[in-house]
Amino acid sequence: MYKYSVSILGTGFIGLCSAACFADKDIKVLASMHNEKKAALINDGKAPFFEARLQEMMDDVKKNNPELLQCLTDPVKAVLETDISMITQGTPMREDRSIDLSFIESTAREIGEALKKKDQYHLVVVRSTMVPGTTRNLVSKIIEEVSEKQPGKDYGLCMQPEFLAEGRSIEDTLYPDRIVIGEFDEKSGALLQEFYEYFYGNHLENCPILRMNLESAELVKYGNNCLLSTKISYANEFANFAELVPNVDVSQVMKGVGLDYRINSRFLRAGVGFGGSCFHKDVNAIKAWSKSKGYPSRLLEAVLDINDDQAIHIVDIAEELAGKLAGKRVTLLGLAFKPGTDDMREAASIRVVTELRKRGVTDIIGYDPKALKTAEEEMGDKIQYADSKEEALRDSECALLITEWDEFKTLTPDDFRQLMKTPYLVDGRRLYDYDKFNDALLFRAIGRINL
Ligand code: UDX
Repeated sequence: MYKYSVSILGTGFIGLCSAACFADKDIKVLASMHNEKKAALINDGKAPFFEARLQEMMDDVKKNNPELLQCLTDPVKAVLETDISMITQGTPMREDRSIDLSFIESTAREIGEALKKKDQYHLVVVRSTMVPGTTRNLVSKIIEEVSEKQPGKDYGLCMQPEFLAEGRSIEDTLYPDRIVIGEFDEKSGALLQEFYEYFYGNHLENCPILRMNLESAELVKYGNNCLLSTKISYANEFANFAELVPNVDVSQVMKGVGLDYRINSRFLRAGVGFGGSCFHKDVNAIKAWSKSKGYPSRLLEAVLDINDDQAIHIVDIAEELAGKLAGKRVTLLGLAFKPGTDDMREAASIRVVTELRKRGVTDIIGYDPKALKTAEEEMGDKIQYADSKEEALRDSECALLITEWDEFKTLTPDDFRQLMKTPYLVDGRRLYDYDKFNDALLFRAIGRINL
């Protein structure tokens, strides 16, 4: 018998990383998903997607006690055989940019079906990002209706937002900087707190647990992602200011700003803009939600506009440097939304390609150390795909650095000069030493202009 048994409903980054970390600490986990092939992979101890340290974690569990992590294709059974259920389903962006809650709704229904058959108290924890009011007014209402049970009496209800960044999911799960627990009632929150005290043990010494109501916890997550996105757009706004004055460098400016202990320097790197599965989705979702309540957000509108304009701006810079790009061969170095992943969701490269094609550029070649396959799925034949950075640069007439992969750091001005037909380079992530590259190449970078 294990002290805790948890069902994890939704096996993306959050779900599977939590499942593996829990199982590694002697917590019995029943993950559940509808895709039989992926479930079989997980039962075989294999991660169905790449995430740093996840496979090692799953190998450990498989070696020490494979019974601790199992994946079912029957969510009702998973809920029935556990004491706590965590909803970790995605909440994607709809066509109209508002939040799509359909996965959450069907999962709530499945939990309801299970609870209808269950006599013992069960704790339901929502960990997906959802606009304020969703846990109480949608998730709990569906569970109540389907199960004919009552929250606070027959089942407990919490909302615990997740702050994992891709590439750091295991690290962030094992060493959180805080745990936010939104609770329907005292008992639900206390049970979840006890669970985390068991899971983390001494780690919790430096990690505050904040207890609040469900809606505040839901809003914390948006508060987080909107502020991080705002910091990036702020740095990009200052990059544009810096370009108005010769020899001013936004990297130095933001370093000076970030050293203020009230601000800190993280997420102040100017560049070609943020992407990824969360920032656009969450900023748009809370913006659409506040508008639906009669409060349109001017700040978040600007954050998104400034961000997405950076992709247009980098093409403007390239044309100032190299002349009209139509008819020329253009190289994109990096396609993924950030280094260390093959994820192309909302990647800046997609916006840059759209802008280039709008200006009649058809000879575009891209290279990415990890994201070639996903990029091709996303962009098809809008660009060509090179197997190496050298191939991407050969005979090119203008190169744009889009993702700051380590392997691009080793490129020297000589490499660009030798490989390219005309060595025009625009650094969209401030990867290169400005002075060195500016002296040696036909060079520009976001946030600095030398006369
Ligand atoms: C983000 C949040 O960090 C995480 O807490 C949340 O749970 C999910 O969303 P993630 O999307 O994995 O995580 O990536 P992150 O490392 O935050 O980067 C997001 C984007 O911002 C990337 O495109 C990155 O290139 C860009 N970025 C980041 C900048 O342009 N400048 C910066 O200073 C930092």
